[in-house]
Amino acid sequence: MAAFTVNGQTVESGKNQKLLRFLRDELHLTSVKDGCSEGACGSCTVIIDGRTCKACVPDTDSLEGKNVITVEGLTDWEEKVYTYAYGKAGAVQCGFCIPGMIMCTKALLDVNKEPTDEEIKYALRNNYCRCTGYVKIIDAVRIAAGIMREGVIPQEDENWELGSRVARIDVGEKVLGTGKYPDDFYPEGMLYGVALRSKYPRARVLSIDTTKAEQLPGVEAVVTAKDIPGENKIGHLKHDQYTLIPVGGLTHYLGDAIALVAAKDRETAEKAKKLIKVEYEVLPHIHTIEEAAAPDAPRVFDEEENNICAYKHISRGNATEAIEGSKYVISKHFETPWTEHAFLEPECAVSFYDEDGDIFIYSTDQSAHQTLHECSLLLGTDKVKVQNALVGGGFGGKEDMTVQHLAALLTYVTKKPVKMKLSRAESLLVHPKRHPFYMDMTMGCDENGNIMGVKAKVKADTGAFASLGGPVLERACTHAAGPYHYQNFEIEGTAYYTNNPPAGAFRGFGVTQTCFATETLLNMMADKVGITPWEIRYRNAIRPGEVLPNGQIVDDSTGLVETLEAVKEKYDAALEAGKAVGLGCAMKNAGVGVGIPDTGRVKLIFEEDRKLHIYSGASCIGQGLGTVLTQMIVTNTDIKREDIVYERSNTWISPDSGTTSGSRQTLITGEACRRACEKLMEDKRAGKTVEEMIGKVYYAEYLAKTDPLGADVPNPVSHVAYGYATQVCILDSKTGKLEEIVAAHDVGKAVNPLSCEGQIEGGVVMSMGFALREKYPIDENCKPIEKYGSLGLFRSHEIPKIDAIVVDKPGLKVACGAIGIGEITSIPTAPAIADAYFRRDGVRRYSLPLSGTPYERKG
Ligand code: FES
Repeated sequence: MAAFTVNGQTVESGKNQKLLRFLRDELHLTSVKDGCSEGACGSCTVIIDGRTCKACVPDTDSLEGKNVITVEGLTDWEEKVYTYAYGKAGAVQCGFCIPGMIMCTKALLDVNKEPTDEEIKYALRNNYCRCTGYVKIIDAVRIAAGIMREGVIPQEDENWELGSRVARIDVGEKVLGTGKYPDDFYPEGMLYGVALRSKYPRARVLSIDTTKAEQLPGVEAVVTAKDIPGENKIGHLKHDQYTLIPVGGLTHYLGDAIALVAAKDRETAEKAKKLIKVEYEVLPHIHTIEEAAAPDAPRVFDEEENNICAYKHISRGNATEAIEGSKYVISKHFETPWTEHAFLEPECAVSFYDEDGDIFIYSTDQSAHQTLHECSLLLGTDKVKVQNALVGGGFGGKEDMTVQHLAALLTYVTKKPVKMKLSRAESLLVHPKRHPFYMDMTMGCDENGNIMGVKAKVKADTGAFASLGGPVLERACTHAAGPYHYQNFEIEGTAYYTNNPPAGAFRGFGVTQTCFATETLLNMMADKVGITPWEIRYRNAIRPGEVLPNGQIVDDSTGLVETLEAVKEKYDAALEAGKAVGLGCAMKNAGVGVGIPDTGRVKLIFEEDRKLHIYSGASCIGQGLGTVLTQMIVTNTDIKREDIVYERSNTWISPDSGTTSGSRQTLITGEACRRACEKLMEDKRAGKTVEEMIGKVYYAEYLAKTDPLGADVPNPVSHVAYGYATQVCILDSKTGKLEEIVAAHDVGKAVNPLSCEGQIEGGVVMSMGFALREKYPIDENCKPIEKYGSLGLFRSHEIPKIDAIVVDKPGLKVACGAIGIGEITSIPTAPAIADAYFRRDGVRRYSLPLSGTPYERKG
């Protein structure tokens, strides 16, 4: 066995294994994150003899005499510098990629104290970040370099009120790797769980023989459907997904689990999995919408009459007549692809029995309460607790349960702690994706470019189970009209089940797809009318007091026009310079809306430490909710930032505040927090001291009231708030690559402009991938083909300049005017880029990713 040093200590691995496994599983150096174990993502980057290296690549036997450094091995000075720099720059979101980025930063600055931006980008090029768009990480390295040269960390007196550019509260734990994601927990006696998944996308399970697997030494349990004490079927809204396919049950896709194994180590669990024998009756499967819609199609679900998951028909005014009476009419067919969230942290849960005899689950999800609800159903008991650990990115892909219930079930059966973690390949297969859309859309305009009417038909492949397919389709349809003030709109949408992997929530929630169609038609219409894409939007833009195509009268916070004005100078300058420039606009709801109960809940409690603790069952999935709530409290009370403690979401103290989706937490939970502050200040104003307030619960909730879709009122309130945006794409005349994206976003009131910019930059880069390169191809046997490293995600050295413009537009009467922007940042990017390429080469493109660009990947 090789001997080498890790952070200055001589170590020897008892067996030859990947360095990553040794560092994490044996030395418990958990700053070294396991994002893929495929040498692709960079989350496990360490420094070996002065050079960065992905720890999942080398075997320990190859390291004789080498010197390995992880984040745990930083000097005190380095810890302070990197924490300050990454916080100051706003470079930390979910944080999962950050320790790897820190190692890249250190390796660079150890040899180059004055790197250029190009050198910084090059140093980071092997590490993916899915949240930040890299802009602020590059800033952080530049800041760190400056401090290393000067030898002094600036002292700053930070104002934490709303509108301040403060460093997030979770920077330290994410930079230094001390914050825990579920995979970082190693409870005593922990078993490793794995799932045997279906061999066929559609087959009936005839028998399952687990005898040989059970006999393998080290195996503690092999679990099948018959071992489930409660409901086998779970699901986010509709309970249509088997936890484990029973004998006689039908598989729906290749990700369906049939049996679980719990064993003393991963290798044994994997070995045992291969010993389970399953007999199938293989049945014809459905791979396309056409196959799903055929009259004699096999049904994905035995119990359904057809393969339609959801159907929406939305109509207001008379779109047909309005289009017939229009001077200009354009009809086109559009297509957008499957897209993978590619969050850096694969799904993982750790469960065990706690001292109360409850099954306790550390989870990475978008709602601990939702996880509790589904796990309780499965286990047939409410003696379950869920605690959110850090969440390494979600973007919608962690709304559905994937591992939490499986870990809990294995703990129930074995009575022991269990870690259930998806391999990256499983993660790519199992969690719901962004729906591919097929859209036919027609737009009619008058001679001045005023939109008269829009009519559309959209179809979506929602894959193997319902997940959030219905709501995604609905939001795609309601927002297809765009942020404009015309009144004739009709859309019909259908989501079909297939045996492909499921589709569900994904940043933008269906609007990303329909916006591509609407905005492209509007760009074409501008050319017909003879005005610029900017001008046609300025004429049609919804303004405060006007009526949206859905009938809602918009409030004073409506800032589309301000976002158009914010980009105008750069847009005009690029046009004048003869550059190819494209533009797109968007609106996106904040909050669930359409009459669905949507409640934010917060408890504020002074604990014995005399600090005010924030409890809310709202997951922070990287967007910075804890910082938002802290700033809300500083602004609405006389309590200082250092006296506030943000507690991660759990299910026993923190009240349910709904899922982190629909850009809702800043607004909905933010308003609940503001109301709790009011109650607390009543006591303070009455002269109570902190000592007297210790233990008292200041609880408040906020129910966002909206009207259901199709409500019989002249001007229904579909959503309590909308964000608006304009993005501009400018191409480099020589290379044809993206030179700059200008992204102006109306956020109501920016709680923390630094975080808003980070959201914008991250959303833009994510949708550059959607527009230009990212693919998630599925073969004819319903099997995804790509690995993490070949999805087409953008890297640090490939990003253009991104000018994030945060527009404050007061007027919203709740949450101090703050509107979430998690999703809208990703929505107008693709049509802006598509239009820029049309301006360059005269070719209109109607499907994504765009063909004929320098970014196109063949095959
Ligand atoms: Fe980089 Fe989330 S902060 S992946």
